[in-house]
Amino acid sequence: MQISNPQSVIPKPLPLPLHHKITALSKEVKPYNDDNLTKKQEITQMFDNIAPRYDLLNRVLSVGIDNIWRKNAINELQDIAPQTILDVATGTCDLALEAMRLNPKKIIGVDISSQMLVLGQQKIDKKGFQDIIKLKLGDSENLPFESNTFDAATVGFGVRNFENLEQGLSELHRVIRPGGKLVVLEFSKPSKFPVKQVYFSYFKYVLPNIGKLVSKDQSAYTYLPASVQAFPEGKQFIEKLKECGFKTAKCKEQTFGICSIYTAEKV
Ligand SMILES: C[S@@+](CC[C@H](N)C(=O)[O-])C[C@H]1O[C@@H](n2cnc3c(N)ncnc32)[C@H](O)[C@@H]1O
Repeated sequence: MQISNPQSVIPKPLPLPLHHKITALSKEVKPYNDDNLTKKQEITQMFDNIAPRYDLLNRVLSVGIDNIWRKNAINELQDIAPQTILDVATGTCDLALEAMRLNPKKIIGVDISSQMLVLGQQKIDKKGFQDIIKLKLGDSENLPFESNTFDAATVGFGVRNFENLEQGLSELHRVIRPGGKLVVLEFSKPSKFPVKQVYFSYFKYVLPNIGKLVSKDQSAYTYLPASVQAFPEGKQFIEKLKECGFKTAKCKEQTFGICSIYTAEKV
């Protein structure tokens, strides 16, 4: 794992292809709103801060449902039985660990937060999966891999945090081999009564307070609902996947639309 000096290994973003528009929304919502820091720097700082409490908060705040969503996301890859998987924004590696069920030869997890990776590595070592799952500090928007390398790529609750969504999706498309598949798991907004009302009250009032108390980070769990609100979900995200090169893209809502699983194929 190469995580000793984060700044030295996070590569500079590649220039965007001309036909890709910059997503203003994903740039505007930042955890700390510090004018001197980019969204990427703030996101790195935020996940480094909350890393020790991240898993606990996930389980508590989602009442354990997040693990069911990860299982469903990995099920989407069963049909192609991938041998090589890239898990971008791998964090503490829950999605990468879930992907072990598919019996791959290799899983590479990439993240910009060194502290999330340290905890992920501990979980990998505990399960004895260190020969299969390798971790790398790196940026989704400039992936340190050759084109057409992976059978599949996954991103769990990560795309919402990308500074430049199109750049990140284009990079994912580049490193997946033709015939390979991308699976993205991301929060969405339920639209039906009464789940919509209950969910918004929970997200606005309950989650930020529990998050603040447990994580000791004043902003991280206020940023979460704000970033979900701003994220181009559903049909809009499917369009983004297609703009970034994926030929087919689909969305499956989970648990009344609280979360969505997107699958996309590279032809
Ligand atoms: C909410 S966590 C999700 C972790 C894990 N995938 C899961 O399912 O629990 C989001 C992760 O995305 C990472 N991240 C955000 N922007 C990134 C980027 N540009 N490149 C790589 N990782 C990024 C963060 O550091 C964080 O670990």
